[in-house]
Amino acid sequence: MKKIAVFTSGGDAPGMNACIRAVVRTGIYHGLEVYGINRGYEGMIEGDIKRMHSYSVSNIVQRGGTILKSARSMEFMTPEGRKKAFDHLQSHGIEGLVAIGGDGTFTGAKVFFEEFGIPTVGCPGTIDNDIFGTDYTIGFDTAVNTALDAIDKIRDTAAAHDRVFFIEVMGRDAGFIAVESGIGGGAEFVLVPETKTDINQIVKSLKNLRKSKSSSIIVVAEGDELGSAETIMKLVKEQIQDPTKDFKVTTLGHIQRGGKPTARDRVLASRCGMAAVEGLIAGKTNCMAGVMNLQVVYTPFEDCIGKPKTLIPDHLKLINLLSI
Ligand code: F6P
Repeated sequence: MKKIAVFTSGGDAPGMNACIRAVVRTGIYHGLEVYGINRGYEGMIEGDIKRMHSYSVSNIVQRGGTILKSARSMEFMTPEGRKKAFDHLQSHGIEGLVAIGGDGTFTGAKVFFEEFGIPTVGCPGTIDNDIFGTDYTIGFDTAVNTALDAIDKIRDTAAAHDRVFFIEVMGRDAGFIAVESGIGGGAEFVLVPETKTDINQIVKSLKNLRKSKSSSIIVVAEGDELGSAETIMKLVKEQIQDPTKDFKVTTLGHIQRGGKPTARDRVLASRCGMAAVEGLIAGKTNCMAGVMNLQVVYTPFEDCIGKPKTLIPDHLKLINLLSI
């Protein structure tokens, strides 16, 4: 293997740049030519591919976003789109790929490998942490700390006005950000897609809590099965029927996707990037380099996509127990 390419795809995540840097420099260290593909699969289809050097990734380890930009490509879902992408890779002589992204990215990479046989190793880049085969994904720790900072600030004003705040965090299909920011932020309730949300129970508990607490924080993952924080707030408000109580909603949104990556994310990203390139050199393909129990592990894309990553049961218990 002489030439490899790296790209970022799907939702960007803080730490993707640290991962790109690790891929480029590990490749160069091992004597490879490294290319960067702009805008993920979209750029692959358009041939937006450039040579990267050690200096191409200088001064990016601390930056959020991704210098290679990202996209969600519809065209790559078609056989014609994938053929165009393959032709561009061939014209550059690229023999291996490092795909940094989440489950959509790995689904595309798996199909592409099966059709065209270009060896591909993934790195888990998504703030959602919903990828099987790694304890944490790149960007998750930063997103949790961003959410936590917001929750701390909202807590100040919630307490000052005796208000109940519903704070919506990201997590389309998974409640990891909600759970960890909720524990760290001392939330009274955390509502996630993985567990059934019981409005009656929340109303009952809120009424009981009111005797000892005047303000409450309820963290809602955007993918909760009952709907958005706004919808859930309205359902609770209707049932509580207390005109003296003030309910507020804050949606944190894309603020969670930006910002300087934390040390944890930079280290994880660097480890995964190095492992992806060394995995390719060692002949690995169709798998993701992640970190479990502090060790680098390679997990087939099939499992990363197909196996559910479950919330830590102790975490859910903690939230209930500590909110009394
Ligand atoms: O997959 C990461 C994620 O941040 C989800 O939590 C969120 O629902 C989604 O991306 C938002 O995507 P977009 O930026 O395309 O609206």
